[in-house]
Amino acid sequence: MREAMATAEVGDDVYGEDPTVNALEAEVAALFGHEAALFAPTGSMANQIALQLVVPPGDELLCDADAHVVTYEIGAAAAYGGISSRTWSPAGADLDPDTVAAMIRPEGYHAVPTRAIAVEQTHNRGGGGVIPLATLRELRRIGDDAGVALHCDGARIWHAHVADGVPLTEYGALFDTLSVCLSKGLGAPVGSLVVGSADKIARARVIRKRMGGGMRQAGVLAAAGRYALAHHVDRLAADHAKAARLAEAVAPFGVLATAVRTNLVPLDLAKARLDAHALAAAARAEGVLVSVLGPRTARLVTHQDVDDAGIDRAVEVLTRVLRDA
Ligand SMILES: Cc1ncc(COP(=O)(O)O)c(C=O)c1O
Repeated sequence: MREAMATAEVGDDVYGEDPTVNALEAEVAALFGHEAALFAPTGSMANQIALQLVVPPGDELLCDADAHVVTYEIGAAAAYGGISSRTWSPAGADLDPDTVAAMIRPEGYHAVPTRAIAVEQTHNRGGGGVIPLATLRELRRIGDDAGVALHCDGARIWHAHVADGVPLTEYGALFDTLSVCLSKGLGAPVGSLVVGSADKIARARVIRKRMGGGMRQAGVLAAAGRYALAHHVDRLAADHAKAARLAEAVAPFGVLATAVRTNLVPLDLAKARLDAHALAAAARAEGVLVSVLGPRTARLVTHQDVDDAGIDRAVEVLTRVLRDA
C-alpha cells in the first residue's frame, strides 16, 4: 500500500485532474452500480455531504438513536445542513421497518416533513450487526411509497457483503446515497466516498468544497484506497473469524451484548464485577486495547493488524481479567 501511494500519479483534484482519484471514484461507483462517487477525507464528512443531498435545511432525517450520524458526528447534520433528526429506539441490525414507516411525516404546513431514512451497515453501536437484505428491501418499498430517500452509512458495508454474501451492487441498488469507508477494516490510512447518481455527486462536489474537503494531490491517498479495495475485501472473513474466537472466549462470563456477526465484539458489562473503564485499563496494562463506549459497555475490534498470536494474547488477558475481577 505504501508503495502504491509513493508511486501514484497525481493532479489537482479540486480541478478534477487527479487521475488516481478519478479512477478510485469510477471504481467505487461501479462496485455499487451507481453513476458516480466522490472521494472525501472522512466517513463523517461523506455522511454529512450525503445527508445534505437528500434532506433540505429544516426538513427531517429518521435514523436509529445509536446511529453514527447522530451519535458521533458532533451535531453536524444540524450545524451544517440545518437538518432536523428524529430517531427510533436503538435496534441495531434488528430494526423494524413498520416502526420506521409509522414515523414518516408527510409534507404539509404544520409538521416537519421526513425526507430521508438513514441506516448503518454494519451497525457500529449495534455490535457490527448486519441488517438483513429483506429488511432493507422493505425499507426501500416504504421509502418509495412515501417519496422518502434512503441513505446508507456503509462505513463497514464491506463486512456486511462478506458476512452475508450480498453483492455490493445489490446494496447499491437499494439506496439513493451511500457513504463507504476505506479507512476502517480495509486498512487505508484515510478516505471515504459518497456514492450516488451523477447529478447528486455533482452537487456533492460543491458541498464538499464548502465544507473544506476539497483536496489537491489526493491521489496519494486514493492510491491507498484502490490498493485496499483490490487486496483487503475478501480477507475480512479472517477478521470475522477472529472476532468469533474472542466472542466465544468471553461469552462464558455473560458479557457478550449480542451475537457476533462481523469484526466487532460488543460487551455488556452491566452484570460484570468491573466496569468498562476498569476492564479497558486492566487490559491496556497488558497491551490489549478495548474501546469504552459507555460506563458499562465496551467494544473489541479485530482487523488485519491483529494476527492470530494477538488474538491468543487478547483471549488470555481478557479471560483472566474477567475471571479475577
Ligand atoms: C458507522 C460509522 N460511520 C461513519 C464513521 C465515521 O468515519 P470517520 O471516522 O472516518 O469520520 C464511523 C467511524 O467509526 C462509523 O463507525
